[in-house]
Amino acid sequence: MSGATPELRPAGLDDPAELEQRDPGGMLGEVAGAGQQTRVALRAAQAAPLVGPLPEVVVVAGMGGSGIAGDVLAALAFASSAVPVLAVKGDRLPAFVGPGTLLVAVSYSGNTAETVTAVEQGLAAGARLVAVTSGGALAELASSRGAPLVTIEGGRMPRAALWSLVVPVCSAAEAAGVLPPLTDQICAAADTLDGEAAALDPKVPTSENPAKQAALRLLDRLPVVWGSGQLGAVAATRFRTQCNENAKISVVSGPLPEVNHNDVMGLEGGLGPDRDLVLLRDEPGEHDRDVRRIEAVLEAVGVGDPVVRTSGEGPDLARLARLTAFADFTSTYLGIARGVDPTPIHTLDQVKSALSTQA
Ligand code: PA5
Repeated sequence: MSGATPELRPAGLDDPAELEQRDPGGMLGEVAGAGQQTRVALRAAQAAPLVGPLPEVVVVAGMGGSGIAGDVLAALAFASSAVPVLAVKGDRLPAFVGPGTLLVAVSYSGNTAETVTAVEQGLAAGARLVAVTSGGALAELASSRGAPLVTIEGGRMPRAALWSLVVPVCSAAEAAGVLPPLTDQICAAADTLDGEAAALDPKVPTSENPAKQAALRLLDRLPVVWGSGQLGAVAATRFRTQCNENAKISVVSGPLPEVNHNDVMGLEGGLGPDRDLVLLRDEPGEHDRDVRRIEAVLEAVGVGDPVVRTSGEGPDLARLARLTAFADFTSTYLGIARGVDPTPIHTLDQVKSALSTQA
């Protein structure tokens, strides 16, 4: 065990020196650079030999901060793809994986055991591999098999490389004819990320900064995070995992309207003093009845003013970018407000390293 619960200290979110001191790993700077990261990733994806035949199915294998790129692809493909897209998180691939499968393996380090094992299974089954990584065993495996490889910039925490991972994963699907051309929406996402970084920047005071406001509101509470539409659901997952890793707290998350059929019971009797509700809404992706569903569930649990962030208008990736930027900034401010360094992930590292020595 890593020791005592970190001391809760006054937030100091509007004091630049205090922010810098409390964020020694520079996570806020990483988050702010997501737009430029997206443009660099687009160039890397465009330089890679990704073009291939239309597959029968796309499987994206990856874990944690890398694996969420598979969720993004599945969400993008949902409304338009003629072939199924599945994100797999674990060592094993489904039995249907075979020569008609496009297997996109995504691992920032390239050394995540589950992902490498899944790739070995996929290659043995005859799947067509595309690898997205900064190096490691995955890069070696792809090179040794002559499989397309998108080599992305190294040196980040995997979760701080979201757009480095999402862009090539989605580009691999585009190049196989699974998604329509993406360049315009990737550029729009980069611009959105720049705009959100300006709006949620440390220099913007708490009174005008929704991410700082949300972080302070969630301080010492369990966030219950619901996302609407396919993209809102992915953003809710991202909000949870970013709060886990940047703020070192537990979070409950789920997709609307599914949460109305189970999670809502956990809020019977109201939120109480120890929880707060966050709604990440992708209104263009909602069903017509979702507005009424959201109203009904808020009324039923007696929540009048959840934290709400909407994705706005624009293409899918730009709308997603607006929600993920909010998750990234809010979780980092929350970690800082809690008095924890957002960047290190000691327990996660400890688990991975214990398993790697057993391999
Ligand atoms: O956020 C993290 O650091 C983790 O969730 C990692 O992404 C996860 O352990 C998988 O590692 P990698 O992204 O290097 O494959």
